[in-house]
Amino acid sequence: MLTRLDGLEQEAREAASSAGDLREIQNLRLRYLGKKGELTLMLRALAQIPAAERPMVGKRANALRDTLEQLFQDREAHIKKSTAGSRWERERIDVTLPGYPFALGQRHPLTIVLDEIKEIFIGLGFQVATGPEIESDYYNFEALNIPEDHPARDMQDSFYFTRRFLLRTHTSPVQVRAMEMQAPRLPLRIIAPGKVYRRDDDATHSPMFHQVEGLAVDRGITFADLKGTLLLFAREMFGPRQRIRLRPSYFPFTEPSAEVDISCIICAGEGCRVCSQSGWLEILGAGLVHPRVLEVSGYDPREATGFAFGMGVERIAMLKYRVDDLRLFFSGDLRFLKQFR
Ligand code: DAH
Repeated sequence: MLTRLDGLEQEAREAASSAGDLREIQNLRLRYLGKKGELTLMLRALAQIPAAERPMVGKRANALRDTLEQLFQDREAHIKKSTAGSRWERERIDVTLPGYPFALGQRHPLTIVLDEIKEIFIGLGFQVATGPEIESDYYNFEALNIPEDHPARDMQDSFYFTRRFLLRTHTSPVQVRAMEMQAPRLPLRIIAPGKVYRRDDDATHSPMFHQVEGLAVDRGITFADLKGTLLLFAREMFGPRQRIRLRPSYFPFTEPSAEVDISCIICAGEGCRVCSQSGWLEILGAGLVHPRVLEVSGYDPREATGFAFGMGVERIAMLKYRVDDLRLFFSGDLRFLKQFR
C-alpha cells in the first residue's frame, strides 16, 4: 500500500507539472481526489488492511491528500499567472510607435471671410449683434419702412411660414432689434453677421446665404462717415490700393441710398471679364438710416442720425478666392474646402 501511495504521488506530480491549463488541473483533481478518485478509493480501502499497519498507512495517505491538494493549487496559481502574463505580452502598447496622424480640420472659406470682416469692424469699435433667422413681418419689412404692398417686397422673394412669420430675407431686421434694445442711448455701432434666405437658386444665388449688416447711430453722423468707413473696410479686406465708388440707389430703409463698388480686384480697374470691362465690382448696399426707421426704433431723428450697410459674404469670398460657382461653398466637397487656410 505504501509503495502504491508513493507511485501515485510520483504520477500526480508529473501530471500536475505538465498540465497546461485550468481544465487539466480540474481533471487531475477529479482523477485523484474526486468521489471515485484514485486516492479517495485508497483511503476507503484502508479499512481492509491489517489493524497494526493502519495508523501509519492512514497517516501517509491523509498527508498525501493534503500534498496533492496543495500541488494542484500551486499549479493552478502558476497557470493563471503565466496566462495573464502572455496576454499582457500580446496586448502590450509599444509607446515608441509613431501615432496615427491627427487630421486637423480647418475653417470653412466663408467662416474665414466672416472672421476677417468681424475683425475689421471690431477694430473700428463695432459690436457683433445677432437676431433670429425666423423673423416677423414687422422686423423684416414693416419697421424697415417696407409696408405690406410696397413693391420693394418683390426684390426679396421670401419663404413664409405664416402670413406673419418668414425666414429673414436680409440681416437688416437686426438694425431695428439693436436700436430697440439700446435707444435712446448713443452711440450705437453694431455689425450683424448671419444667414439669410431667398427663393433663388443658380450659380450666383443660393436659397441660403450670408450677410453682414452694419449700423452706426450717433449725433452728427454724415455720409462722409459712411464713405470713410467703407473705404477703410475695402482696403483692409482687399488691399491698400483699393478705391471705392458710390452710385445712387434706392432702399426703403435708407435715404439717401447707394450701391457701393470696389475697384476690380482682378484688373485693378483696367477692365476684365470678372468686372465686365467696367473696372468696378459691386459689393454692398448702404445709406443713411431713414428717419422713419430711427423713429420706430426709439431714436429721435432730430437728435440722432446713422448710416447702415449690408454686404453679401459669399460675394466677397467669391471675389477674394476667385470662386466662380457659389454652390461650391455648400457642396461639402473636401477637395474644394481643403484649399483654404
Ligand atoms: N438689406 C439689403 C439687402 O439685403 C442690403 C442693404 C442695403 C442693407 C442698404 C443696408 C443698407 O443696411 O443700408 O438687399
